[in-house]
Amino acid sequence: MVNVLHGLNDAQKKAVTHGRGPLLVLAGPGSGKTRVLTHRVAWLVASGLAAPERVLAVTFTRKAAEEIKERLAGLLGPEAAGRVWAGTFHSACLRVLREDGWRVGLRNFSVVDEEDREVLLKRVAERLDLSSGEAESAGKAVSFAKNCLVDPAEFPAWARDFSGSDLLSYRKEDVLSCGTRLAHRVYLAYQELLREANGLDFDDLLFEAVRLFRERPEVLEKWRRRWKWVLVDEYQDTNRAQYEWLKML
Ligand SMILES: Nc1ncnc2c1ncn2[C@@H]1O[C@H](COP(=O)(O)OP(=O)(O)O)[C@@H](O)[C@H]1O
Ligand SMILES: [Mg+2]
Repeated sequence: MVNVLHGLNDAQKKAVTHGRGPLLVLAGPGSGKTRVLTHRVAWLVASGLAAPERVLAVTFTRKAAEEIKERLAGLLGPEAAGRVWAGTFHSACLRVLREDGWRVGLRNFSVVDEEDREVLLKRVAERLDLSSGEAESAGKAVSFAKNCLVDPAEFPAWARDFSGSDLLSYRKEDVLSCGTRLAHRVYLAYQELLREANGLDFDDLLFEAVRLFRERPEVLEKWRRRWKWVLVDEYQDTNRAQYEWLKML
């Protein structure tokens, strides 16, 4: 216990040793928030409040997750640290979908990375006879819509009406610069190609994980029991899909 709190200032110690219930750490860049998150995981485990496999630590990048895991290994030992789940939203959702996606029809899917996504969008552009600029702009709109949990059928009405809370730091003109009709056609064609390839792109990982939890309450319940302690770094940057997924957990 001594070394888990070692090297923290008083405010950090207070946050790290907060017991059960929600806690929000709000502080400037470089002030030690990620360090608090890491030590809090270690403290929860070392104090006996949490079994390591009951902890989910969500980070914004893979690199940050690696750093947290490394630090945890130093604080808890490699065995306990290895049982904590630390990763990005995408890796956590992928984990859930690999295990339970079959319940909503997702079997042996492959993950379409950014490069593959470009290739698919090019094929959509050829099919629909679009310029590369139009395809790129529509691709952004599709990604944004997925992050707002909007499927192709809902897209036209959403694009007409959306504003405010879903936009975060985006501007509507930027998101839909190619026009709603074109973006909708691209969304439909792009999903068709993904289906043919049995692929999920990065945005789908979040979208489908939310759908799984919504449609299968018993699956949600299982993961709520598995991840009793959820810690999120850079919480202010979560998009709608990430927020909904977290809230359900
Ligand atoms: N109490 C502390 N004593 C010494 N170094 C600290 C302390 N808290 C944080 N640091 C260091 O300051 C740097 C920034 O911390 P970090 O947790 O990444 O901040 P944030 O996530 O808020 O941007 C890191 O190198 C971290 O190890
Ligand atoms: Mg940080």
